[in-house]
Amino acid sequence: KKVVLAYSGGLDTSVILKWLENTYGYEVIAVCVNVGQKEDFSILKKKALESGASKVYVVNVQDEFVKDYIFPTLKAGGIYENDYLLGTCFARPLISKVLVDIAEEEGAVAIAHGATGKGNDQVRFETSVKALNPTLKLIAPWRIWDLKSREDCIEYAVEHKIPIEATKEKIYSRDENLWHISHEGGELEDPWNEHSKEVYLWCNAPEEAPDQSETVEITFEKGIPVKIGSKDYDGVELIKTLNKIGGKHGVGILDMVENRLVGMKSRGVYETPGGTILYEAHKALEKLTLDKAMISYKNDIAKKYGELLYDGLWFTPLKQSLDSFVDCSQEAVSGTVKMKLYKGSVKALGTKSKNSLYREDFATFGADEVYNQKDAEGFINLHALPLTIQGLKNMEKKQP
Ligand code: ARG
Ligand code: SIN
Repeated sequence: KKVVLAYSGGLDTSVILKWLENTYGYEVIAVCVNVGQKEDFSILKKKALESGASKVYVVNVQDEFVKDYIFPTLKAGGIYENDYLLGTCFARPLISKVLVDIAEEEGAVAIAHGATGKGNDQVRFETSVKALNPTLKLIAPWRIWDLKSREDCIEYAVEHKIPIEATKEKIYSRDENLWHISHEGGELEDPWNEHSKEVYLWCNAPEEAPDQSETVEITFEKGIPVKIGSKDYDGVELIKTLNKIGGKHGVGILDMVENRLVGMKSRGVYETPGGTILYEAHKALEKLTLDKAMISYKNDIAKKYGELLYDGLWFTPLKQSLDSFVDCSQEAVSGTVKMKLYKGSVKALGTKSKNSLYREDFATFGADEVYNQKDAEGFINLHALPLTIQGLKNMEKKQP
């Protein structure tokens, strides 16, 4: 019998690989999904085989990740608890999809992953697999075995001759893809501790960023970023380029305490340089091209969308329906935004669009021919009618 394992090349999943074989007698197929993490995949392949995998797949899904996961979320403005740009959340359903496809191709009966029993990721993997193929068995070794720590894993590895690298102390639990890198654990576990600048892997500390600010122009078409300056980019290259520029200026560092789906609070540091630039730019362009009611409604959707993704509900009819709404809302969101990056901050300096709803002739404080100020008086009378009636009532009550 075969099991498909979500393999990262790290200590945990190497141990899991062998453990699946030892415990269940499974033939283990290791699958590493390339969602843009910096990794030497040839070394990883070798490691998986040496750890006992019967077969290793490395699948590059970066284009699909951007097109079907990152950009739809950007268009929706999806966000969790006001701040988190969902970098880990939307990678999990895509990884799960690849695992299910390979399991079906290989005739495997189970899918295994290395997420712990205390986190969000176990939920996201398993809800996604259940949505795509509920007949597959799910195995989460961290919830089953007696290994409790990294030390236990190292011991198991040594005992079972699993190749592990010179075991330098690993301080943080990290997750990296094209969109972000997350850091949890270590000194971050005390929310009063300032995070150490040592956590940063993508960004300069804002204090150490260049003294000279930098301006980038990003062009969107129907809510999707397509150009930096005058140059066309495909999605993957565009995000990588903005990650470099943003990282240099220390943009997109988030340090937050969040509510995990499984109940406890956790504290994490996220580096999302390109993503933060794109969110800010997209928001600025929407302010120019969408009307008041749409912006207000979209803000509600952004929150709902963020919660769905965080909670592992990617493959649901609600998420799909929200996408239809969002796509429709983006018809007019085309144009260019000028962004200034400076020591950790990113701000829109200016926006332009052929679909701009901004009309200088209406907005000007100077003389104009299109707006009749006398109209405002009647508008205010009716707009304030409920307040007027309430005010009268309050005055009546004050009379003895
Ligand atoms: N707290 C973030 C989330 O729930 C990041 C999780 C990172 N996962 C990891 N396996 N290190 O999305
Ligand atoms: C894990 O528990 O595997 C990482 C943290 C999380 O999933 O929230």
